[in-house]
Amino acid sequence: MVEKKPWSGRFEAPTDRRVEDFTASLAFDRRLARYDIEGSIAWARGLQKAGVLTPEETEKIVRGLEEVGREIEREGVPDDPSFEDIHMYVERRLIERIGTLGGKLHTGRSRNDQVALDLRLYLRAEIGALRRLLHGVQEALLTLAEAHPEAILPGYTHLQRAQPILFAHHCLAYVEMFERDAARLTDCLGRVDVLPLGSGALAGTTFAVDREYLAHLLNFPAVSRNSLDAVADRDFALEFLAAAAVTMVHVSRLAEEITLWASSEFGFVELPDAFATGSSMMPQKKNPDVAELARGKAGRVVGDLVALLVALKGLPLAYNRDMQEDKERVFDAADTLAATLAVLAPLLTGMQVRTDRMRAAAEEGLLDATDLADYLVAKGLPFRQAHEVVGQIAKRCLAEKKRIAELPLEALRAFSPYFGEDVHSFLRLEACVDRRLSPGGTARARVREALAEARARLRAARKGA
Ligand code: ARG
Repeated sequence: MVEKKPWSGRFEAPTDRRVEDFTASLAFDRRLARYDIEGSIAWARGLQKAGVLTPEETEKIVRGLEEVGREIEREGVPDDPSFEDIHMYVERRLIERIGTLGGKLHTGRSRNDQVALDLRLYLRAEIGALRRLLHGVQEALLTLAEAHPEAILPGYTHLQRAQPILFAHHCLAYVEMFERDAARLTDCLGRVDVLPLGSGALAGTTFAVDREYLAHLLNFPAVSRNSLDAVADRDFALEFLAAAAVTMVHVSRLAEEITLWASSEFGFVELPDAFATGSSMMPQKKNPDVAELARGKAGRVVGDLVALLVALKGLPLAYNRDMQEDKERVFDAADTLAATLAVLAPLLTGMQVRTDRMRAAAEEGLLDATDLADYLVAKGLPFRQAHEVVGQIAKRCLAEKKRIAELPLEALRAFSPYFGEDVHSFLRLEACVDRRLSPGGTARARVREALAEARARLRAARKGA
């Protein structure tokens, strides 16, 4: 318990316990402890360079801070709202360890530039970890695709069977999404990586602190240009939340497909037992709870983004206590995304792909109808007429529950004289797939190249990460 607040000078009454409970952030911002200490060590060195602290004082403060850091790692931070926040707690423990000298650390600094710094340091580390987790999911998707390079399944639009595609092509679509997600995180890192320290409470600091030196110590490539903006800005947190929300939307779409595919109606995949759950009532059931929760948690992260957007909207310059609401949203989004990606990768890797079921589904549903129309076009019929002819053929097939390929040549010729001997080989699934040779198309040759390129890009990204 703190008897006296560090800011108690101008107050006559102690803080009401209910106010302490309501305003404290220690319960969640204690996660920032190591970054708070890292930033404080740099600040102490900055104060030394500015002539505020002697080298001996600086060393004592730095050693004290390191000890506080180790103590927190060992014992954690007490759940006591009277300390208010992690910044106050660290300073208090420092003073308890090294005495009144510890009270010199906060010279020229404010919790406003301090908390902006801590959150930036936290996000910088978190973005690196999330990028690595994204690479893990991409790796799982590529491994699945490479294990079944020629498997064919129906591609859908409107969730109606549309045209045959390669399973590997489908996997690669998600690889693309997650690659953009990783790129968005990297892009956001550019705005996270700006040093706010040295902005003071809002107007700058009267001490001659070399901010470039601070940036160098803390490994920031840039220094904020405006002190008001530096303490009021949470764009970097919004951008992070937006990138996390988009990623979770991608995860959710994939999770929905896994859920559909694992149903008896589709039967395209069998989930690994270790990544599925049973029903307490229905003994026969195997449920895709992991995928369902991944889908459900997208809502939380989208909510995190919206909550911070709304909290910041209409705030006057510069710092306002409303901004304390940023941390739980950012932590929740980062934790949720990390946990989801970490379980998604092994779920994908462990999935058994039922290529026989996929193929059977692709054989049904007249997926070769577009190709049949293209065939007639190649023979000289305008596409609109070809579309009409194939529509008639489709009607007949649906009525007789037949595939197009089951109609003999004479039957096809009754619809159009353009049909020739080559029509049946033209309609094989592989032939339909392989004709989509356009760049980015599903032809086997294209997908082989795309797989190799995606592998190479992932390797390069992992080296860079
Ligand atoms: N706990 C605060 C936050 O999270 C730290 C900054 C508080 N600054 C202040 N002047 N009350 O935003």
